[in-house]
Amino acid sequence: MHRSHEHGMGIPLTQEDRARRAFVSSLRSHVLQQMSAGLRDHFEGAVAPEHAKRGDKLGEPEKIHRALRGEFPFKAYSSVRTAAQEMVFDVVSDAVDRNRQALNEHNPAADCGGTLTLHPELDLPVNVTGIDVHLAPGSYHAEYQDQDLCAGAVYDNSIEVFAFGQFGQELNDIGSTLANYIRLAYPEFKPDRILDCGCTIGHNTLPWATAFPDAEVHAIDVAAPVLRYGHARAQSMGIPVHFRQMNATELEFGDGEFDVVFSSMFMHELPLKDIQAYLREAYRVLKPGGVLWQMELPPMDAMPDYENFYMNWDTYYNNEPYYGTFRRQDYRKLLTDAGFRDGDFIEATMPRYTFVGEEAFKAALAGDNTFDTLTGRMDPKGTRWYGFGAWKA
Ligand SMILES: C[S@@+](CC[C@H](N)C(=O)[O-])C[C@H]1O[C@@H](n2cnc3c(N)ncnc32)[C@H](O)[C@@H]1O
Repeated sequence: MHRSHEHGMGIPLTQEDRARRAFVSSLRSHVLQQMSAGLRDHFEGAVAPEHAKRGDKLGEPEKIHRALRGEFPFKAYSSVRTAAQEMVFDVVSDAVDRNRQALNEHNPAADCGGTLTLHPELDLPVNVTGIDVHLAPGSYHAEYQDQDLCAGAVYDNSIEVFAFGQFGQELNDIGSTLANYIRLAYPEFKPDRILDCGCTIGHNTLPWATAFPDAEVHAIDVAAPVLRYGHARAQSMGIPVHFRQMNATELEFGDGEFDVVFSSMFMHELPLKDIQAYLREAYRVLKPGGVLWQMELPPMDAMPDYENFYMNWDTYYNNEPYYGTFRRQDYRKLLTDAGFRDGDFIEATMPRYTFVGEEAFKAALAGDNTFDTLTGRMDPKGTRWYGFGAWKA
């Protein structure tokens, strides 16, 4: 019997599970490659010239959205993409539900030193509880029985289908890329303590423990089931991580406790006031000489108009209401407002570490920061992840 993952929390999959997952992955790939290319062609070949004839320049993403949303290629793209997103959760939930009992009663793996600390009284923020984030039923936090970790299992299984191979074999390419960037770009820097905020199941936390094996790695999230699952998953892989249920806007750590504060795909799911509070907290818990480093969507001012329209699609149609507001911010200013010095700002676009390997990755670091149509988008032609942050003086 095939299992969903190599680690100890993988679940048995039937032939039908695998066929349905493969279909949805292919559909996602089709809509994000072929249908998206058709939409762009329609915009560039028909809609933009038509507007230009009337002297109407379509620059702002919202103007492009208004011009396209009544057009058939946009409606077809949007409905197939939304259906595919819903199907991602649908096709993985069957197998998770069938294995719910076994997952929730999993035998703890041999203790490798990782810990799990939950905080049942924690008030969960409305950005998690108020919506089914990116159309995931129950968001990150829903629990259906005592000690339930199935929201984590759904997440692990769903990102595999969702990413159609673009997150790497262990789904950890983003964490691997960002951690190895710091290791290779700053070889003198030897962090002792690393914190990942909004870690979900810790798949992008674990590469920090691999890149910096002498460091103590901590990871926080507000949602208990994904933390339970992340802990069990990491233990089964023999990677010690300290998972804690905590709000990133009020970190329960002392001043100057960490050398690295990391996050990935986290801030764009927060309202602006929470992003600001999180960044102030990140600054506070960093040691002088430590670094804040986060993988995120590239800022609007660095990307071409059409890409900005295209990326903002999620704001309207994928239950990602904070996406657009986040991308409109001046990221450098967000950090200086939180306490970092302007001159200590860092940013980079990076090829995917687990795809290109260490030598090609190192060579790419010597090149320019490239912002192009592949930045921040899942694309087999060679996605580049975007990172930004700052050193603390
Ligand atoms: C898109 S997921 C991040 C995924 C993960 N870091 C990755 O690399 O794929 C966002 C996570 O942030 C968590 N979250 C949202 N608001 C939070 C907050 N204020 N404090 C801590 N975690 C929060 C959610 O529960 C969710 O697990």
